[in-house]
Amino acid sequence: MNGVFEQAFRGRRVLVTGGAGFVGGAVAQRLVELGAQVTVLDDLFTGLPETVPNGARFVQGSVTDQALINDLVAENALVFHLAARNIIASTKNPRDDFETNIGGTLNVLMAARETKVDRIVYSSSTSIYGNPRSIPINEDDLLIPLTPYAVSKLGGEHYCFAFYESYGLPIGCVRYSNIYGPGQRPDNPYCGVVSKFLAMTDDGAPISIHGDGEQTRDFTFIDDAVDATLLTAIHPRAEGEVFNVGTGIETSVNQLARMIGRALDIPVTLEHIDRRDVDNIRRRVVNIEKARRMLRWAPQITLEQGLARTAIWFRETGFAAERDAPATGAATH
Ligand SMILES: NC(=O)c1ccc[n+]([C@@H]2O[C@H](COP(=O)([O-])OP(=O)(O)OC[C@H]3O[C@@H](n4cnc5c(N)ncnc54)[C@H](O)[C@@H]3O)[C@@H](O)[C@H]2O)c1
Repeated sequence: MNGVFEQAFRGRRVLVTGGAGFVGGAVAQRLVELGAQVTVLDDLFTGLPETVPNGARFVQGSVTDQALINDLVAENALVFHLAARNIIASTKNPRDDFETNIGGTLNVLMAARETKVDRIVYSSSTSIYGNPRSIPINEDDLLIPLTPYAVSKLGGEHYCFAFYESYGLPIGCVRYSNIYGPGQRPDNPYCGVVSKFLAMTDDGAPISIHGDGEQTRDFTFIDDAVDATLLTAIHPRAEGEVFNVGTGIETSVNQLARMIGRALDIPVTLEHIDRRDVDNIRRRVVNIEKARRMLRWAPQITLEQGLARTAIWFRETGFAAERDAPATGAATH
């Protein structure tokens, strides 16, 4: 796929909002490697300046700043819009979430309407499905967001499609499912369950799981998510479409914890603690046939392989266990 990507991105001017964060940083990194001229916009709410890849220009600022967004969008041919308040921040402060996740997205779309962007890729979330009536979840299944975060991610998506239908804005949406992998730092207060579990096992402590651990998720390796995101930016058939980005494989949080023990080659013990308000989704696994069929995308990395790579990265970077940080159950965004 790299040949196709090089041809598509070499020399292109690309804006990545949220590019100091986990997924945005990986998208920006790959684009730099492919020869794109990358600008990262991030307010460093959870992102870190060192995540911005060498070779990218970094602008510290917020997607809520319409004038700044107007300038940045006007300078670029492609926009990857990943900046967002995460589910924990959103649950604590829904208004702030609204202003960034919905208001910031509207700002990006308003700016793009005035210029000639080739494509905007919006990062949505499978959390918008809520508790599905059947699994695996298809893109056109019922959407019942159960958290302010899920509402705002869906609001952003709705605005994208409204701008596509009303103004012909070239957008494509990806609905990510529990992305994990190297770069997902456990010192981010909301880093996702894989990193949290790795941090817990680091000092031999038991893995704390919210609830009974039988809640399930579809865990997606970061490189696979980046591939799907880049394809959505360039594939002619991706315009005006939304794609589930997952694996189609359902894994319980208990299973995940045991797999992490195997990836680290250490015995792990599990302890079950109270469930959190944000852990209100029981099962989630998505159907990825649409992305397979239309984008010719398929995940390349199994959960076992992905956890092994993440464990190596985790050890190399030397993250210490964060015993004081609240443990997390399955990430629901
Ligand atoms: N990681 C996942 O499993 C997952 C799942 C579903 C959807 N998503 C979506 O993918 C995107 C990236 O998520 P992530 O996991 O990398 O999270 P992250 O928190 O690591 O990255 C989000 C980035 O956005 C930045 N940001 C927040 N508010 C901003 C603002 N007002 N202006 C500019 N920048 C701002 C943060 O500083 C951070 O760098 C988000 O849109 C998220 O909703 C992620």
